[in-house]
Amino acid sequence: MNTLIAVVARGLEDVAAKEIRALGGGIGKTRKDRGRVFFQGPADAVYRANLQLRTVDRVLVPLGDKPFEATSSLALTRAAREMAWEEWVTPGQTLRVAASAKACRLYHTGAIADAIKEALVYRGIPTEEEGDQPVTVDLRGTADRWTLAVDSSGPSLHRRGYRKATAMAPLKETFAAAALLKVGYTGEEPLLDPMCGSGTFVGEAALIASRRPPGLDRSFAFENWPSFDPEMWQKVVGRVGGAMRPLPAAVEGADSAATAVKAAKGNLRRAEVDGVRILKRRIQDTPPAKGPGIVIMNPPYGKRVGPGTAIDAARGEWRAWANLLRERRPDAQIYALSPAEVLAEAAGAIGRPVLRFSNGGIPVALVKLQ
Ligand SMILES: C[S@@+](CC[C@H](N)C(=O)[O-])C[C@H]1O[C@@H](n2cnc3c(N)ncnc32)[C@H](O)[C@@H]1O
Repeated sequence: MNTLIAVVARGLEDVAAKEIRALGGGIGKTRKDRGRVFFQGPADAVYRANLQLRTVDRVLVPLGDKPFEATSSLALTRAAREMAWEEWVTPGQTLRVAASAKACRLYHTGAIADAIKEALVYRGIPTEEEGDQPVTVDLRGTADRWTLAVDSSGPSLHRRGYRKATAMAPLKETFAAAALLKVGYTGEEPLLDPMCGSGTFVGEAALIASRRPPGLDRSFAFENWPSFDPEMWQKVVGRVGGAMRPLPAAVEGADSAATAVKAAKGNLRRAEVDGVRILKRRIQDTPPAKGPGIVIMNPPYGKRVGPGTAIDAARGEWRAWANLLRERRPDAQIYALSPAEVLAEAAGAIGRPVLRFSNGGIPVALVKLQ
């Protein structure tokens, strides 16, 4: 069993841990820390985690069994010299060190990076300053105890590859997926985003519903590791890809802006999931429908939430949108991402927020409206 670290946005630790446990195949035993979920799994876990996880930003492989103590650059280099670098780094590759330190005597990130590079030179694996396919080494120190880990993902996993076009204030794919999983969306029930923008909720919903792994169209840093096992990787892709299915229920997005509709349509085409409908339609024109389903939306906010009278106008809009959706979709569960408590209140949110996270620096809450 290997230990791996999933790096997640703060606030998404619980939903990510649940998603990791649901991977099965020997993956489990999660432990949460701030912005990190530690988990264990067999040799193919790192491939599966990268390919399949929807809520995680990256997956790290820790080097060494436990954190080590270092209060000087020399001590750091000495500890780093012992790690099994040749499994992860090819001589001549670019090395990037992402260091963070809390209550540590060593805090100068440049010196920390140099200490790691020195260890590699000692081991006969010199690295370049600049070049393609960098290896990112994550170094985290707390109270002089350090954990070294190699990044297996490369570009952040929210970059699925399908969302090239964006509209106003797009939501990160990992946030949309986390919101959908948190509200229990499985794909068996119809889903509507009446303010879909570039289509992130509907794109992620379509991937979930069709069981299409989010990483199918991208590459990963682990593919450049000297220890990469292409056969094992092909097996994983074949097994996971074999579970894909046509959408079992409707997935629909609508937006009043033509630019958003165009962006969403292009993105959905690239996501290669058939059957998602994207319409140019105002939320006010949402047609009535009976039966269970999920309505989820990320209404515009921007400057309106600032101080002054604009907030009153926004309140009125949020109340009207929520009431309209309750009337048109009486049997559905309705959720909205809200940037401010006053708006959630105005819309008649029920109970506590379902999920909280920071979206591009703005704290938001996913609230249940029905
Ligand atoms: C914050 S953006 C949604 C972003 C989206 N979640 C994404 O990831 O791209 C809000 C969207 O609501 C749309 N919108 C504003 N008023 C609307 C209305 N009355 N009816 C439908 N859509 C509206 C805007 O055009 C915009 O695309």
